[in-house]
Amino acid sequence: DWTPEHTLEALIADIRAKVGKDRVLLAVSGGVDSSTLALLLSRAIGSQLTAVFVDHGLLRLNERHEVEQALRPLGDENLRVVDASEQFLRALKGVADPEEKRKIVGREFIRVFEAEARKLSQEGCRWLAQGTLYPDVIESAGGEGAANIKSHHNVGGLPPDLNFELLEPFRYLFKDEVRELALLLGLPEPIRMRHPFPGPGLSIRILGEVTPEKLDVLRRADDIFISALRDWNLYDSVSQALAVLTPLQSVGVIGDERSYGYVLGLRAVSTADFMTADWARLPLDFLDEVARKITRQVPEVGRVVYDITSKPPATIEWE
Ligand code: XMP
Repeated sequence: DWTPEHTLEALIADIRAKVGKDRVLLAVSGGVDSSTLALLLSRAIGSQLTAVFVDHGLLRLNERHEVEQALRPLGDENLRVVDASEQFLRALKGVADPEEKRKIVGREFIRVFEAEARKLSQEGCRWLAQGTLYPDVIESAGGEGAANIKSHHNVGGLPPDLNFELLEPFRYLFKDEVRELALLLGLPEPIRMRHPFPGPGLSIRILGEVTPEKLDVLRRADDIFISALRDWNLYDSVSQALAVLTPLQSVGVIGDERSYGYVLGLRAVSTADFMTADWARLPLDFLDEVARKITRQVPEVGRVVYDITSKPPATIEWE
């Protein structure tokens, strides 16, 4: 009979048996799967684990700090945080097309991660761990070679000469089971129950070209929205919530002057599988408070709109 405690013990025993005294590399994204896996591996093999967290400069406010805090149990030597923001922003400069942005972020991610993986491989690291879940295994059944990092998402594989063996402890688990493990392993609540966040990060939530100024505006507005959802106990009632910065400037009035400010979109959806989604009927008083707060605290935003389109025909993200 299945209990999370049994699963945890079984996974730890499996990992130890498989890996022995070898070293293991893991890419952490800040999501629940890779964070839980980091804590699990750390529990199983201690300092044989090296986790790499690539900060692509497209994270939400305080996200990097939250991840660093959550992965504190690994110890400083076993968590490598690579700040590659400038490299990503440079690569994204002048690019407005969504698919192009996705490709660039995926490519730069692989570049940065590959450089770390190469160093570790030279130090004798043999395994590459991934938080692949059972639904991912089904989805990509057939063609997955070793050392692909979520190839069905954003990034391609590592070059074959790196030759890692793949370790996928979650390949028979569903998300809910991973969340139960996360609880046992002490992963902080905000990460354990976190909404999904796309690999390309905020780059696809700034419609058109990504600039440092726009990232800053979006981060502050997004944080107000998400914090308010938590304050109103609404966060767990929706499957995903996000803010989108449009390139539109609309007219407003400040004092008796006309002003121009960005149009910011808010979106929240309920969904079982993210293939279809219904827009969330958030309370009007809540939306009112969020719009007031955003326009007050982020003066670059002149107008806040709430997306009432379901998927299909609209996607969850705006790009
Ligand atoms: P859409 O916008 O396609 O999103 O309705 C469905 C889910 O997928 C996420 N999403 C992505 N995740 N890389 C990712 O890792 C991407 O390029 C990407 N695009 C969308 C989206 O946030 C939602 O959860």
